[in-house]
Amino acid sequence: MPQQAAVQQLEPDADAQALAPSTLRFITCGSVDDGKSTLIGRLLYEQKAIFDDQLAALERDSKRHGTTGEDIDFALLVDGLEAEREQGITIDVAYRYFSTPRRAFVIADTPGHEQYTRNMATAASGASLAVLLVDARKGLLTQTRRHAAIVSLLGVRHVVLAVNKIDLVGYDEEIFRAIVRDFAGFSAPLGFSSVTPIPMSARFGDNISRKSAKTPWHAGPALLPFLEDVDVEEDHSGEPFRFPVQWVNRPHLDFRGFCGTIASGRARRGDAVVVAASGRTSKIARIVTADGDLAEAGAGEAVTLTLEDEVDAARGDVLAHPDARPEVTDQFAAYLIWMSEAPLAPGRSYLLKCGTKTVPATVTALKRRLDVNTLQEIEATTLGLNEVGIANLATTAPIALDPYREVKGTGAFILIDRETNATAAAGLVSFGLRRATNIHAQGLSVGKIDRARLNGQRPAVLWFTGLSGSGKSTIANLVESRLYAHGVRTILLDGDNVRHGLNKDLGFTEADRVENIRRVGEVAKLMTEAGLIVLCCFISPFASERRFVRELLEPGEFLEIFVDASLEDCVARDPKGLYRKALAGEIRNFTGVDQRYEAPQTPELVVGRGGLSAEQEAALIVKELARRGFIDRVADASDDFSI
Ligand code: ADX
Repeated sequence: MPQQAAVQQLEPDADAQALAPSTLRFITCGSVDDGKSTLIGRLLYEQKAIFDDQLAALERDSKRHGTTGEDIDFALLVDGLEAEREQGITIDVAYRYFSTPRRAFVIADTPGHEQYTRNMATAASGASLAVLLVDARKGLLTQTRRHAAIVSLLGVRHVVLAVNKIDLVGYDEEIFRAIVRDFAGFSAPLGFSSVTPIPMSARFGDNISRKSAKTPWHAGPALLPFLEDVDVEEDHSGEPFRFPVQWVNRPHLDFRGFCGTIASGRARRGDAVVVAASGRTSKIARIVTADGDLAEAGAGEAVTLTLEDEVDAARGDVLAHPDARPEVTDQFAAYLIWMSEAPLAPGRSYLLKCGTKTVPATVTALKRRLDVNTLQEIEATTLGLNEVGIANLATTAPIALDPYREVKGTGAFILIDRETNATAAAGLVSFGLRRATNIHAQGLSVGKIDRARLNGQRPAVLWFTGLSGSGKSTIANLVESRLYAHGVRTILLDGDNVRHGLNKDLGFTEADRVENIRRVGEVAKLMTEAGLIVLCCFISPFASERRFVRELLEPGEFLEIFVDASLEDCVARDPKGLYRKALAGEIRNFTGVDQRYEAPQTPELVVGRGGLSAEQEAALIVKELARRGFIDRVADASDDFSI
């Protein structure tokens, strides 16, 4: 599954770090049809990294599928999958290996199609150089600029501007120069350490392995000699030690080892360490590996650390040196590269996975979106597929992290959609937000339980969800009347009413509905603190937000009541005349008409299916409250109905 690949790859890449220093990892990117596959095929072919049998197959396939007549179509070599050949696009990330006497190479080959930008981000996270392909006939495209911006964000410092298909413009120097100027102007703010422009024809081999006689005006290098020589060594020696604990190995009482891969820096026997979140300190007693103990180990090495003291740490904790700790925070600013068809909904709960830690998180504020064509940051309320934004995030528990530009391993994360389990975004931490650490919960002497006891009840939230016109408010109103008659203290929050006050700034887009329910959830929680039974009537069409409210409360406190009326019935009833308007196109984003309703899968109660009257449904709900022990003063046996 490509999503899973993304999860893996954005984690510190053990292979990458363990490779010899003479290995260059680079990524090829560019727009579809710019010739990446041909370029890679050409490189592999000229370095004899293709076996004879592959070559024979290639010659045969070139005749069948190829786009180059009788010549070998190198793209076919790399576009390995049959499906890709038929569609003419490349999917997923593929790693190719080849070497020359001077250097070994790992190429992360990524697709150019717009919808596959996520794979590009995945591949770039482990690369030190990017070969950015441009079709000489087309010049810089939006996709080229987007890829340049993303590789820069991901910390790739060196770029080869490969102006390909130069043969198709008659090896024209001026065309090449114009593209180089264009890119220089565009990319200045991206701060690359080096940009090396090379005119080339991957198809005919010009300026690939050696300089071409057809571009005598090109003073720079050919691609391969340049890749063999380029110095991309970054100085990692000063990086702080980070060890995200993957699991705790405790085979017997005398051994407790923390297993994981060193994300950055070095560990030495005897070094002081701290568990970032708890602040507990100790010293490294042993560095255990399958091949025996080590005196020290570095980034990329998978080891088991034992400590001198009994210190608690679990999966997801990060061990560090006490004098160079990661930030431990529940709020931070980050770049997000949005990777999902479903747009970002600020306020929605996603799962954030950073290293070995996974916690629920929300985007509390989307600050700006990056216009990839101009590199301007512009106002935005959401991010769509492949868009890059700057956002504030909040996690439900503090996590240990670093700014990405300082430590990649603990500065990159992904957001996972909780409903589909797909990767929604790749994130790069910019900085922790101080605000978070300045606010501490105030201890109060009178608690929720005390307040509730005074009322002779247990707090609860009765969450009525269903289509507009399904009868949520009618039933909730009857429930409240019954509870009131029995002396139960309640409050009723209703969508239409709350939208006149607290939420009058919100409309009905997906993002606004998410925020509507987030605020109502927080209010409902406060009301439970007051010891009340809270009745909430909101369409609340999305499962994510209903789950968010559930998780905000204590276990068992949230009762989801699905008012299950069919769309046809609601349209027929149409108490406010809104369906008529929505169906006539006068109201947009109307639930059930042009926006979805995600029916609850496992609600505590379903009403409206059994042909009961609203009165009868209300009585059943009150009974259920008594059965669950939320109210004890109700003499529900005397309830005046029978079924
Ligand atoms: S929610 O989706 O954000 O939970 P909420 O329950 O607060 O919605 O508000 C729904 C009420 O707003 C409906 O009962 C209806 O009266 C009114 N309304 C106005 N426009 C819309 C719309 N586009 N979709 C749904 N309800 C709408």
